Amino acid sequence: MCGIVGYVGPQDARDVVLEGLRRLEYRGYDSAGIAVVADGTLTAVKKAGKLANLEKVLAEQPLPAATIGIGHTRWATHGGPTDRNAHPHLSADGTVAVIHNGIIENFAALRAECEAAGVEFTSDTDSEVAAHLLAAAYEAGAEGQSRLADAMRVVCRRLEGAFTLVATSASEPDTLVAARRSSPLVVGVGDGEYFLGSDVAAFISHTREARELGQDQVVEIDRYRGLSVTDFAGNAVEPTSYTVDWDAEAAEKGGYDWFMLKEIAEQPQAIADTLLGRLGAHGELVLDEVRLSDEELRDVDKIFVVACGTAYHAGLIAKYAIEHWTRIPVEVEVASEFRYRDPVLDRSTLVIVISQSGETMDTLMALRHAKEQKARVLAICNANGSTIPRESDAVLYTHAGPEIAVASTKGFLTQLVACYLVGLFLAQVRGMKYEDEVAAIVADLRKLPDAVAEVLSGMDEVRALARELADANTILFLGRHVGFPVALEGALKLKELAYIHAEGFAAGELKHGPIAVVDKGTPVIVIVPSPRSRESVHGKVVSNIQEVRARGARTIVIAEEGDEDVVPYADHLIRVPRTPTLLAPVVTTVPLQVLACEIADTRGLDVDQPRNLAKSVTVE
Ligand code: AGP
Repeated sequence: MCGIVGYVGPQDARDVVLEGLRRLEYRGYDSAGIAVVADGTLTAVKKAGKLANLEKVLAEQPLPAATIGIGHTRWATHGGPTDRNAHPHLSADGTVAVIHNGIIENFAALRAECEAAGVEFTSDTDSEVAAHLLAAAYEAGAEGQSRLADAMRVVCRRLEGAFTLVATSASEPDTLVAARRSSPLVVGVGDGEYFLGSDVAAFISHTREARELGQDQVVEIDRYRGLSVTDFAGNAVEPTSYTVDWDAEAAEKGGYDWFMLKEIAEQPQAIADTLLGRLGAHGELVLDEVRLSDEELRDVDKIFVVACGTAYHAGLIAKYAIEHWTRIPVEVEVASEFRYRDPVLDRSTLVIVISQSGETMDTLMALRHAKEQKARVLAICNANGSTIPRESDAVLYTHAGPEIAVASTKGFLTQLVACYLVGLFLAQVRGMKYEDEVAAIVADLRKLPDAVAEVLSGMDEVRALARELADANTILFLGRHVGFPVALEGALKLKELAYIHAEGFAAGELKHGPIAVVDKGTPVIVIVPSPRSRESVHGKVVSNIQEVRARGARTIVIAEEGDEDVVPYADHLIRVPRTPTLLAPVVTTVPLQVLACEIADTRGLDVDQPRNLAKSVTVE
């Protein structure tokens, strides 16, 4: 989710690129960099931290005036947020600069190939491999007008994973070349000038004429000859032209009214990115950044999952999966309680801390307590290089990209995916699952992006329902098994977004008290497990729906396609694709996110910045 900008034309490239980066800073902001070509020389400056840090350096050591340049704001995936890991990355001779957004899945093998050829890497990133491969392909290429573009095609044919690449070269001072696969890139066409951006926010103040690039395509932009597009094999392609009708602020939200809506829509890609690069050639999991040895993992005899809020709910779901796959006992605790209850921890205890921001003080203090008690700590986090992963023994990063809205959505779904990966990895290392069994479950995980996309494509009824429920005083959420934490998460979303009293609880608990609050017309949302699940709680949940309905409740039922048992008792039925029981929360949560967001919007509330809340709670 990095910010990418390119420019070639009559304006001062330094100003145009920096302005574009400012508009894209919300996409990622742990480092930034810029490269320009002037008088046959390429100059690059890059700096860790926010864009302001780069601008401070440029004020002290200005770039030469130039009319062609590229720039990048980074949201780190591979390699911490440091000066050397910032983009652009340069070829060894400093004549080619490349910026990258995405994950190059096969970067380790490619890096080994480059190092065997004598290349010395200067960063810990996957992206740098593209700079060296491009330089090598450029050197090997035939003289000619499209030499940099030819080299880009050669390189793209070798990369696996998701990437947007933008390159410039001192040898071709009038040319920008870019490529995309499963990562955003859009071209802006001005009057005698051209722009590249990870989204239109990068250049919307200069032009509204845009060209959309398709999957596996390379665009070459020459300031005199204009732009040409090919596929990776070099076959000419006609790009789709369109006119952008957003204003600059809307552009940052991708045309959505709220960042939260944009982030909900990004969930399929965020899940896919979190899975990228973590499955070996034979189906085994490769979590090399976990940094705990197989020996240490085999020594684990107890697991605590510790987190706050939505991340805590992810932990509750993780418990079901990790215990089922590894048979290691798992306790899940809110961080603010964990360290004050004197938990029993020792060297054989694994504490998994989950945090989107990596800065939540309650979780950080719990981590420190666990370390003092000699437990091993594994962080699941979305912010590369933040405090919690830095202080943990190991980390598994989610790759959701920056989550701007206070209410966590893509952060949550990618936390679930990361927890599944940790559980499977533990099972694999401890011999509880063969590689083919792991591969079969990972194959189910790989279907989740499409499953979530399918749910998102059918949300009109949920949006209509939101308008009907906007005046509700209280809404109850019921679930069993992994549906119980989903009920808790649905209630939290509604509370934090719409300020409506909501309560999630285990459906089996209904008869032990909560059913007393059910009155005529009380909305009760029920997450129904698959009728195929071995845990056979499906029939019990259907009975629970009848119990609340008999007392006048308005039942809103989330059930998988083909489940006809629920139909007679559902006032509103929301269908989700069939999904393996333990993975079902990834799809059943989505309608609850949309519902809460739309109810808040209907109530005229600030969806992205709800009252009393902060995106990262850095106080205890
Ligand atoms: C999620 O919607 C909330 N904003 C909140 O509960 C959040 O999940 C919690 O504060 C933990 O934050 P973290 O994941 O950044 O540690």
